[in-house]
Amino acid sequence: MMKMNSGSLSVLFAAIMLLGSCLSVSASFSDNFSIVWSQQNVVVDDASSNVQLSLTPDAGAQFQSKQSYLYGSFSVKLKLVPGDSAGTVASYYLTSYGDNHDEIDFEFLGNETGQPYVMHTNLFANGVGGREQRLFLWFDPTEDFHTYSAVWNHHQIIWLVDNTPIRIYKNIEATYPNSYPSSQPMNIAASIYEASSWATRGGAVPINWNSAPFRVNFQNFSFEGCEANGDISSCTENYTGNWWEGSPYQELTQSQLNQLKQFYQSYMLYDYCTDQARYPTPPTECSYNGV
Ligand SMILES: *[C@@H]1O[C@H](CO)[C@@H](O)[C@H](O)[C@H]1NC(C)=O
Ligand SMILES: *[C@@H]1O[C@H](CO)[C@@H](O)[C@H](O)[C@H]1NC(C)=O
Ligand SMILES: *[C@@H]1O[C@H](CO)[C@@H](O)[C@H](O)[C@H]1NC(C)=O
Ligand SMILES: *[C@@H]1O[C@H](CO)[C@@H](O)[C@H](O)[C@H]1NC(C)=O
Repeated sequence: MMKMNSGSLSVLFAAIMLLGSCLSVSASFSDNFSIVWSQQNVVVDDASSNVQLSLTPDAGAQFQSKQSYLYGSFSVKLKLVPGDSAGTVASYYLTSYGDNHDEIDFEFLGNETGQPYVMHTNLFANGVGGREQRLFLWFDPTEDFHTYSAVWNHHQIIWLVDNTPIRIYKNIEATYPNSYPSSQPMNIAASIYEASSWATRGGAVPINWNSAPFRVNFQNFSFEGCEANGDISSCTENYTGNWWEGSPYQELTQSQLNQLKQFYQSYMLYDYCTDQARYPTPPTECSYNGV
């Protein structure tokens, strides 16, 4: 097995490209995505690689990748709804389909003008979710584009904001079966929708349609993952050469863990692992993912 360091990653990546086991998506939206919900609320500009989704009183919007992936690195630049965004939720996520689906989520809960957005993350494995974390961000996500990424490999999932890890979820399937997304290829999707009943201050502030349309902009998708194309063995066997499986992504360094711990002290609003009313005994995975 090849030992990797960050210096060898780009060479390795080029080699993998040649082997055809991964894909990098950039330019034309319609080559790689389809619109799931309300064509009229999706505005694509391929020249700037910008996709704008709107929420209007009659509809929201959603699109998803044509290709599905089993493990990989998935990132997008995102600029959230400015001003009054209370009662709206914008999302960027990976999902499989069917009864026991897997899902890796970023959701952004809007707020009244001048009040901070909340970033909500969650993880479903084999149909079981309920693994929410909520955080404030350390910048105003409506002012500029920032990069939101998920790196998902056989060892862990890392959620990153501007390349800073903000959450990890370890694969402990060896001791806790069905607790990790490990066999279902996922599509990448994004949406904006109304969630007056729960999004802002727990539902206290409903959407104000006078502020519609609510607009969120996505740019520069970058997906480098294993395309299963009906045969998952191509992604679950002989996978160690894929760069997102490499040692920098298998475990956070001590300094990244320290950074995460500090970050949680300043920005964490909610963690399912410490919600004793809901989980009197913390879920098994919590002792592996906490810092
Ligand atoms: C879209 O995906 C295909 C493979 O499915 C890839 O070859 C192509 O480069 C992608 N298109 C763009 C514009 O990124
Ligand atoms: C909205 O702002 C209020 C007041 O600062 C804050 O308590 C809340 O967490 C913010 N976000 C949401 C989604 O309610
Ligand atoms: C997206 O990529 C284009 C082309 O590389 C670049 O001009 C643009 O600044 C990028 N967008 C963001 C938000 O970085
Ligand atoms: C993985 O490698 C082994 C040994 O070279 C080979 O027999 C097997 O077919 C490979 N599996 C896949 C899915 O390529």
